[in-house]
Amino acid sequence: MIVRKTKTEIEKMRKAGLLVHDILKKIGAMVQEGVSTWELELAAVKMMEDAGAKPAFKGYYVPAAGERYKFVLCTSVNNEVVHGMPSPKRVLAPGDVVSIDTGVSLDGWYGDSAMTVGVGEINDEAKRLLKVTEESLELAIDQVREGRRLFDICETVEKHVTKSGFSIVREYVGHGIGTQLHEEPQIPNYVDRRNENPRLREGMVLAIEPMVNSGRPETRVLKDRWTAVTKDGSYSAHFEHCVAVTDNGPYVLTRP
Ligand code: MF3
Ligand code: CO
Repeated sequence: MIVRKTKTEIEKMRKAGLLVHDILKKIGAMVQEGVSTWELELAAVKMMEDAGAKPAFKGYYVPAAGERYKFVLCTSVNNEVVHGMPSPKRVLAPGDVVSIDTGVSLDGWYGDSAMTVGVGEINDEAKRLLKVTEESLELAIDQVREGRRLFDICETVEKHVTKSGFSIVREYVGHGIGTQLHEEPQIPNYVDRRNENPRLREGMVLAIEPMVNSGRPETRVLKDRWTAVTKDGSYSAHFEHCVAVTDNGPYVLTRP
């Protein structure tokens, strides 16, 4: 069942969304040569504490890993797709591309967003990967309207990415969001005809999150049981926003 939210509830999610935005903006500005992903984690912890928010990821149980996640950020560098773990050993270097994914709950309501940024000058392939991935999210956001269907979102991302010569990660998907980080429906970044294709209705809130590889789509998980990487070592990018269906079109909760 897809839980629909009232306007009042959506405004509570908005507060969580804007906090996630502020955190990502701050962390994104810190992404520089010589900074470790652990320093990013510490800054995000502090911002959540100061705002009186709970981290959404820290303590979140992921069955595939068989344990709870230990950090408030996922910091996935270069060939890392998702669930890269902050570490003082991971010092950023020019040319790296870094996906920052974070979420909070505030007053019981969740926000979740991600973005990928380059360190210094990045190569042309990486630049185009970031551009195309972000564009695919923007095009998908425009589909978040009453009367459209879930597959319109999935298909929009899939088409934009594949026509650009990049590939869609299939093992990780977007999701509904509300009083839980992950609610129905699952939102793959490709049309999966085995799934249902519900009509979008006012009050649904969707976390849309294209994960796109510059090479082949396949991923594997490292021995740490968390870090997902591209099998072929190619770059991966990730952008995510939470978007509500309203009577006035798409309402992106995770940006001003
Ligand atoms: N980044 C995932 C999402 O956007 C959730 C993180 S799983 C966690 O849905 F284990 F890191 F929490
Ligand atoms: Co998400």
